[in-house]
Amino acid sequence: MAYDFDKIARDYDRMNHLMTLGLDRLWRRRAVRGLHGNVLDVACGTGDMVVELLKRGCTVTGVDLSEEMLAIAKRKAESGKWKVADAEQLPFPDEAFDAVTCAFGVRNFVHLEKGLAEMMRVLKTGGMMVILELATPDSKMIRPFYNLYTRHIIPWLGSRIAGNREAYTYLPASIERFPKGVDFLRVLNKTGYDFSPDWQKLTFGVCRLYRIQKLNKVKIDPLL
Ligand SMILES: C[S@@+](CC[C@H](N)C(=O)[O-])C[C@H]1O[C@@H](n2cnc3c(N)ncnc32)[C@H](O)[C@@H]1O
Repeated sequence: MAYDFDKIARDYDRMNHLMTLGLDRLWRRRAVRGLHGNVLDVACGTGDMVVELLKRGCTVTGVDLSEEMLAIAKRKAESGKWKVADAEQLPFPDEAFDAVTCAFGVRNFVHLEKGLAEMMRVLKTGGMMVILELATPDSKMIRPFYNLYTRHIIPWLGSRIAGNREAYTYLPASIERFPKGVDFLRVLNKTGYDFSPDWQKLTFGVCRLYRIQKLNKVKIDPLL
């Protein structure tokens, strides 16, 4: 079952900026570079990615499962279009958007491959899918500090600031479980779409930025 973000919506932004020491804003700004046209932001949460896209002059639709998160998003950006919708069943026709973005959302999908396939379906051929996601750093030197921070300090902050230790214990556990780099692209590959990938490690690899250009639909012969 999907984690219920309604429970932490009120404190989400404050915790996000505090936990990442404000880096989340820079990561989103970096992610939207070069995007234009009609953009869908999936799992838009409280709308920070939509705000960045609007600043670039894009027309943006934000979708999320959580009504509480969306309520905050709507207050931030009145010119955005908002919809309660499941990433795994997007209510849009094929090839409807010039770009599709998702920041810190795909890790929370119940069925990752299904969500990614939907995001590819609604993206125009030639368009960009941009995904930002948290990850465990590869460096053995950084790992002990990262583990201390995510396993102890973040849950402690979660209980002090948001009154919810459980949500912020779920966070590092979900990051550790989530496929990164080539493993993530392998899941994307299973969606049956052809794409050209590019990815970068941000801030020692604690965040990953994937830029995926959709090439075309690969016809998979069910008899093969
Ligand atoms: C960590 S928040 C990220 C919010 C925002 N994108 C940001 O940049 O801060 C994850 C969001 O994903 C949403 N979410 C999780 N599964 C979803 C799904 N299947 N469809 C739509 N939204 C989903 C949650 O409701 C939550 O708002």
